[in-house]
Amino acid sequence: MSNDDAVSGDGPSIPRYKPYYYKLVAGKTYFWCTCGRSGSQPFCDGSHKGTAFEPVAYRAEAEAEVLFCGCKHTRSAPFCDGTHNNLSDSYGEDDPDSPANRDIPAALHRIEGRLHLNGRCFVARTAMLPVRTDSNVRWSTVISGATGARFQSQFYFEVARGESPAIHFGDGDTVLLVVAGRGTLEIGSRSFDLAADTGYYVRPGEDFSINNAADEPIRCYVSFCPSVGEPAEEPHFAESRNPYFDDVYPARSVAVGGTERHKMADRSFQLLVDKTLGAEQVTQFIGHIPLSKAPTHRHLYEEALIILSGEGCMWTEDLKGEVSAGDVIFLPAKQPHSLQATHPDGMVVAGVIYPGVNPDINF
Ligand code: FES
Repeated sequence: MSNDDAVSGDGPSIPRYKPYYYKLVAGKTYFWCTCGRSGSQPFCDGSHKGTAFEPVAYRAEAEAEVLFCGCKHTRSAPFCDGTHNNLSDSYGEDDPDSPANRDIPAALHRIEGRLHLNGRCFVARTAMLPVRTDSNVRWSTVISGATGARFQSQFYFEVARGESPAIHFGDGDTVLLVVAGRGTLEIGSRSFDLAADTGYYVRPGEDFSINNAADEPIRCYVSFCPSVGEPAEEPHFAESRNPYFDDVYPARSVAVGGTERHKMADRSFQLLVDKTLGAEQVTQFIGHIPLSKAPTHRHLYEEALIILSGEGCMWTEDLKGEVSAGDVIFLPAKQPHSLQATHPDGMVVAGVIYPGVNPDINF
């Protein structure tokens, strides 16, 4: 829809198809433009006069970084809710062979399995990370405070036959993605079937263990997001499991394909662990990226992206790095980046964002 089309209909004009980043000042009231005609976007300059539109007042209770909607079609006014992605057919594309992109060199040298790009962004090759062993658990640190994260840690586990020790990280949310194997996940006093292609949620204060009755190891990525303080540097293993289970939230798993997929122009994603399971700040999703390179963008949340299938290239300001199945991309908040899928079938990725409830929102 063009600007003129929007103005000629009943809807608002669309100043742009993405949000405006803004730092709120505590105690200040902002008047967000709803007609789209203001010359002072995203705020009102009085241009709505004579139309049916009125600005939306928003009083900031605290300092915060926010994204004001720029397309004027959000359902969470005045802030972006990702609706802008579906106002056009395509997510947008950047030409990987443009002269500017051709000049961007590839990072080639890994340090302890990690390819470092700009900022604190890196691509970790899971199979190349140092491995430690506790009882029947072989594990690697993928993301931690020591690797540059502020809000989340991630560990890769391979659990051999038998029940693992009790595992906990501290006060916060734990999210698992099982990629292979079958068994049970014991959370406090409860037991859940555990299967591949499923996301699981362990609430603050709960311990868990993984029970494998087969010879094939259970392989999973375990993310931990602390309620306060720093990301965990390593899991804590104990002989016995605390029986505490938070009964207020009895459902703890979502299988891939088990819930609605959200369309995002020519992309789509399914939410796995999110607020419907009780996770208020952390969101896990699985998505498909078609053969393409997204335009450079940023998020307000910190993100870990596991490449489940396909291959591609991760681009930051002036470096790029190849990615393929088994890699994990760590993206600090506000890091400019673009992910390109180079396989004809595209790429399937599983992400964990924190703090965030909607992987649809970018700027
Ligand atoms: S800019 Fe309007 S919903 Fe994102």
